[in-house]
Amino acid sequence: MTANVKQITRLLKPLRLLLLGPPGSGKGTQTSRLLKQIPQLSSLSSGDILRQEIKSESKFGREAATYIAQGKLLPDDLITQLITFRLSTMGWLRPPATWLLDGFPRTTAQASALDGVLKQHNADLNLVVELDVPESAILERIENRYVHVPSGRVYNLQYNPPKVPGLDDITGEPLTKRLDDTVEVFKKRIEEYKKTNEPLKEYYKKSGLLSTVSGESSDIIFPKLLNLITSKFGH
Ligand code: AP5
Ligand code: MG
Repeated sequence: MTANVKQITRLLKPLRLLLLGPPGSGKGTQTSRLLKQIPQLSSLSSGDILRQEIKSESKFGREAATYIAQGKLLPDDLITQLITFRLSTMGWLRPPATWLLDGFPRTTAQASALDGVLKQHNADLNLVVELDVPESAILERIENRYVHVPSGRVYNLQYNPPKVPGLDDITGEPLTKRLDDTVEVFKKRIEEYKKTNEPLKEYYKKSGLLSTVSGESSDIIFPKLLNLITSKFGH
C-alpha cells in the first residue's frame, strides 16, 4: 500500500536533505516516494553505493564487505572520500544543487567533513530529518526485505512485494537478500546506530537543521515528511 499523495510537488528553492533513522526505519522507502513526488530531486544512498561496489567485486567493495557483513561502520575517512568523490563527479556540488542523502553522514566526523566540502561550494545542507520509528516495528521488516542492487529499489514480501516474485518491477532482474540482513548482524547494526546517532543529532540540532517525523509505518511518516518539506521549500 502506498500513501495517497497524487499531486506533484515543486520546490521553490534548492533542497539539500539528509535522512537519518535506524536500520529498517524506511530511509530507502521514503527516498523512493520522495523521488516520485518531487521530480527535481535526486538521491544518493551510501549503502546502495557500497552494495554496488561489492557486487562489482571492486577492491573497495571487497574491503567494504568485511565491515558490512559484521554490521560495523566503515572507517570515516574511507566512506567520506567515496561519497564526496561521488558528489563531485555527479555535479551535485554545483549550485543550484538539489538532492537527498540517505546513510551519509552517520558520525560527527563525517558530518563535519561533509560540511567542509559543501561550504566551499556554497551548497550547505539545509534540512536534516530523523525518521523516528519504534524498534519493535522494524525488526520483522528486515527478514522480509529484498533489494535490486543496481537501482537500490527495496521490496518487502508483505508490505510492498514485487509484481513477479523474486524479480525487480522495472528491469525484471533478480532481487537478492542483503548480506547484513540477518538477525545477528541486524542487532549489531542497531547497536552501532545507537552509539553514533545521539552525537550526530546533537550536531545537527546545534546547526538548527534537525526535524523529526514519527510514526509506526511509512504510510504515516510519508505525508508528514512531505508536508515538512513543502512548508519549507515548496508548494
Ligand atoms: P545502509 O544501507 O545505509 O543501511 P541502514 O542504515 O542500516 O538502513 P537500511 O537500508 O537497513 O534501512 P532503511 O532505513 O533504508 O529501510 P528500508 O526503506 O529499506 O548501510 C548498510 C551498511 O553500510 C552499514 O551497516 C555500514 O556497514 C555501511 N555504511 C553505509 N553508510 C555508511 C557510513 N556513512 N559510514 C560508515 N559505514 C556506512 O525499509 C526496510 C524494510 O522495511 C524494507 O523491506 C521495506 O520494504 C520495509 N518497509 C518500509 N516501510 C514499511 C512499513 N510501513 N511496513 C512494513 N514494511 C515496511
Ligand atoms: Mg536503506
